[in-house]
Formats: sequence, C-alpha cells, structure tokens
Amino acid sequence: MNPKKILVIHGPNLNLLGKREPEIYGKDTLEEIEAAVKKKAESLGIAVETFQSNHEGALIDRVQSAGDDFSGIVINPGAFTHTSVALLDALLAVDLPVIEVHLSNIHRRESFRQHSYTAKAAIGIIAGLGTRGYLLALEAMVDL
Ligand code: DQA
Repeated sequence: MNPKKILVIHGPNLNLLGKREPEIYGKDTLEEIEAAVKKKAESLGIAVETFQSNHEGALIDRVQSAGDDFSGIVINPGAFTHTSVALLDALLAVDLPVIEVHLSNIHRRESFRQHSYTAKAAIGIIAGLGTRGYLLALEAMVDL
C-alpha cells in the first residue's frame, strides 16, 4: 500500500460541473477541479486518484476496493449524500479515514439536502467552499 495515496470520489451529476447550476456549484468543470486536486496533491507530496460515477453501485464498488490501495477517501457523494444508506455502509466497512466535501453549503439549501447519511462515516465535512473544499480536504488528510 502507498501510505500517501488518497482516493477522491465524485458522485452523480458532478460530471456536469461548469454548466450545471453554476450559480450554486460554481463555474469550474470537473476536469478543472481534478487538475487543481492533482496540483495540490503534488505540492503536498502525496498521490491522488480520482473517480466519478453516476451509479450508486459503481461508487460502492470503488469504495469497497479502496482498502488495500489508499490511506484515505475524500468524497462528494452528490445527491447520494441524502439518500444512500448503502454508500454509508460501504464507507463504514472500508475502514479508511473519510472526509466529505460539498461544493455548496448544503445547510443553507432545501431541507432535504440538510441531512447527510454518508457524513456518519466521515471524520469531517467541508461544505460551501467550492473547489477549495477539495484542496482543504487533502490538507486535512495529510495532517491526519
Ligand atoms: C452537492 C450537494 C448535493 O445536494 C447535490 O445533490 C449535489 C452536489 C454539492 O457538492 O454541493 O449533486 O453534493
């Protein structure tokens, strides 16, 4: 296992970033976010791998298979945050530190977005800071 490799996971609809409700999620595309994540990782001296899927099962499979290869997971579960006990169970099962990231501040949005199932598996949550949230999550992972 590479002790300094972090898996960054993006959930459903985040492949549409840039054109998807930019007033809420910002103008950065997923590619731009991933480039910023990789640059930050380099500056921190760690390796990252990124994964995006619109499919709950694919996200669960990726989390389940992360245990041997990574030392932490940064995840934006998208709408599965608010619906998926199955993704929560996968995050709990994998026994790695998890940081949950949201581009928007889910606590100032619709009430159905204010509850996170997946946050129960997370050491901490960063919400509302846009792309910067992922970069702060990487910094926190290194400190941890
Ligand atoms: C999101 C917030 C979720 O409520 C929403 O379904 C998303 C993105 C965020 O990053 O702010 O897809 O996770």
